[in-house]
Amino acid sequence: MLNIAVCVSGGGTNLQAIIDAIRDGRIKNAKIAGVFSNNRNAYALTRAKEAGIETKTACPKEFSSREEFHKAFLEAIDSWKPDLVVLAGFLVILPEELIRRYEGRIINIHPSLIPSFCGTGFYGLKVHEEALRRGVKVTGATVHFVDEGTDTGRIIAQKAVEVLPGDTPEILQRRVMEEAEWVLLPRAIDDIANGRL
Ligand code: GAR
Repeated sequence: MLNIAVCVSGGGTNLQAIIDAIRDGRIKNAKIAGVFSNNRNAYALTRAKEAGIETKTACPKEFSSREEFHKAFLEAIDSWKPDLVVLAGFLVILPEELIRRYEGRIINIHPSLIPSFCGTGFYGLKVHEEALRRGVKVTGATVHFVDEGTDTGRIIAQKAVEVLPGDTPEILQRRVMEEAEWVLLPRAIDDIANGRL
C-alpha cells in the first residue's frame, strides 16, 4: 500500500481528484496518510477533513525564521512516513532537506505544458494569463518529479488542452483542470502505486 502525503495551498480540486480516484478504484493500492497546508484557510483542508484524512498546517508568517518553518513542515511530512509526496497546488518552495530526503518520491502537477509557462513566478492563474497573453492555441498540464529546480524535474506525463476564442484565464484554468490535471495526477499516482513508474 503506497502511503501518500499531499501538500496543498488553495482550493484543493486536485486533492479531491485523488480522493475520488482512490474511492472509486481508479487508484489502487494507495492511501492518503495526511494533508499538509501552509494556509490555514485553504478549502483543500475542508475537503481532507470531510474525507476523514488527517491535516497539519504550518504558516511561514507564524515562525520566527524560514528554518523554523521548514522544521515544522518536515516534521509534519515525516510524521506520515510517506512513500510519495504529492504537490497538488502547493505554492511554497520546498526545503532542500525535504527534496533530498524524499528524492525521486515527490511529484508535482503544473498547469502548462512544461517547458512553456513554468519556473519562478508561474503558478495558478498566472500561468493561464500568460498563455492567453502569448496567444498559444494549445496549452495543457504536466506531472513531473520534483528536483532542486522550479518545474525542472523529470516529466512523467503531459496532456494537451485547446485554447478557445473568448477564453478568460478562469475559463482556461477550469478546462485545463477538467481535461488534464484531474486525469493526469490520479493516473500518475496509480502508476507509481502499482509499479508501472
Ligand atoms: C492547479 O491548477 C495546479 O496545477 C496549480 O495550482 C492549481 C491548484 O488548484 N499549481 C501550480 O501552479 C504549481 N506551480 P487546486 O488547489 O484546485 O488543486
